[in-house]
Parts: sequence; C-alpha cells; structure tokens
Amino acid sequence: MKPLYRLYARILRRQLAGLPMPQHVAIAMDGNRRWARGAGYDDVRIGHRFGAEHLELFLQWCSDAGIRCVTAWVASADNIRRRDSAEVDYLMELTETVVADHVRRDHRWRLHVAGQLDLLPDSTARALKEAVEETRDRPGAGELTIAIGYSGRLEVLDAVRAVLDEAAASGRSVAEVAESLSEDEISRHLYVPGLPDPDLVIRTSGELRMSDFLLWQATRSEIEFCELYWPAFREVDLLRALRTYGRRRLERFS
Ligand code: IPE
Ligand code: MG
Repeated sequence: MKPLYRLYARILRRQLAGLPMPQHVAIAMDGNRRWARGAGYDDVRIGHRFGAEHLELFLQWCSDAGIRCVTAWVASADNIRRRDSAEVDYLMELTETVVADHVRRDHRWRLHVAGQLDLLPDSTARALKEAVEETRDRPGAGELTIAIGYSGRLEVLDAVRAVLDEAAASGRSVAEVAESLSEDEISRHLYVPGLPDPDLVIRTSGELRMSDFLLWQATRSEIEFCELYWPAFREVDLLRALRTYGRRRLERFS
C-alpha cells in the first residue's frame, strides 16, 4: 500500500471518531464488466472474479471499521434470468468457490441469503444453504447477507404470499388478514427477518439508481453513489462514505 494512501486512510479514520456510524451497510457491487473492459480484458468474467475476491477485502474493511451487519448484492433476479448462460454459470461458480467458502473460513460472519434460490443452479443453492447452516452458531459474529437472484419487489410479494399462506393454514379469512396486516408483519416475512434496516446503501460504478435493491428496507437509508467500478473500490472510498454518512446524520439529528 502506498504511504500517501495509508496516511489518507489514517486521516479519514481520525475524522470518523465521534461521528454516528451505520450499524448496517448494504453494498451494490456494480461495474465488474466495465472494469474488466477498461483494464483491457476481453473476457468480462475476469471482472467478476476480481469482484468476488474484492468482497473479501470489503468485509475486512467493514469489520475493521466496526460494522457488524453487511448486505452485499451479488446478482439480481434479472441478472440471472437475462445474462448469457456462460456468464451466469461463472457467477454461480464464483459464488460457490469464493463467496460461500470465504464465509465458512472467516469466523467473523454469520451468513444469510436473500433472493429467489430457485433461480440458482442446485449446486449453488446447496453451497449457500450449507454455509448458512455452518455459520449459524457463531457467537459474537456479524451478520452478512448475500443478495443473489434478488429483487426487492419479489421479496415484498413473497412476504405477502407467506403471510397469506400462514393465514390460510390457520383458517383466518382474507378479511381478517387485511384488517390486521401491518408493516411489522411484512418485515417478519422478508427473506432475512430480524436484521436492522440498512442505514447506508453504497452503489458503485456511477449508476444513480436503486434498481430494485432492498425496496422495503432502504426507505430511510442514506444513499452513497460512488463513481468507481466495484473491483476498483478502495478502503478509503468506504471510509469516505462513512464520513459522509456520519456528517449527514449529525446534521439531521442535531
Ligand atoms: C456487477 O457488475 C456484478 C453483477 C451484476 C453480477 P456488472 O456485471 O453489472 O458489470 P457492468 O455494470 O456491466 O460493468
Ligand atoms: Mg451493472
């Protein structure tokens, strides 16, 4: 690491002292293919490899910064449905070999998965489920959610369906369900219930959209857009996002 960069990181860390910190950070890791093309690779899968490995670094930075709850958007439902099969196959392979394996080895995180697992190949869904089981009993660990095959609208739809299924199973009428349906009840039926809402959502690659990420959970989140493509995102960019977050919160609540 270059000395100047280290110095900058140290200054940023000092500036963070005393600022409100997010409890839950969500990251939309966008720009892998543009990064690969920009770096001269014809095969965009190289961007996905760098991107997946980059998540390990990001988790390290979050844990160093004291962030105990992270949601990482690996692929949307549309990515999986619409991209060509060689690219999707490779993304799934990376999810099994890099993401799931890393979380198994890294005892700082408990894994959760958000998304339509039936969109994934069996082997990927299985690897993720096994990693979720294996990491369940990790006292003191942080919460890491991998959003894969994820769509915020579908998540809300699935939650409403689950509420209705439960109601049908317990013999409640539609009128009764309608009467008592609440925000809390929807929240309890999301893919990963019980997490705090994200305080800060970061999206890389200069795109200024939420693209159906955490539709229900991010209604009050601060959003930070970063110009860099995901594999080029650095620790100082996270620290800057945390500083912006801390200053905005301080202004709003003082
Ligand atoms: C983000 O990078 C990773 C996934 C969505 C799987 P992209 O693959 O979207 O790369 P760009 O945005 O086209 O550069
Ligand atoms: Mg993209």
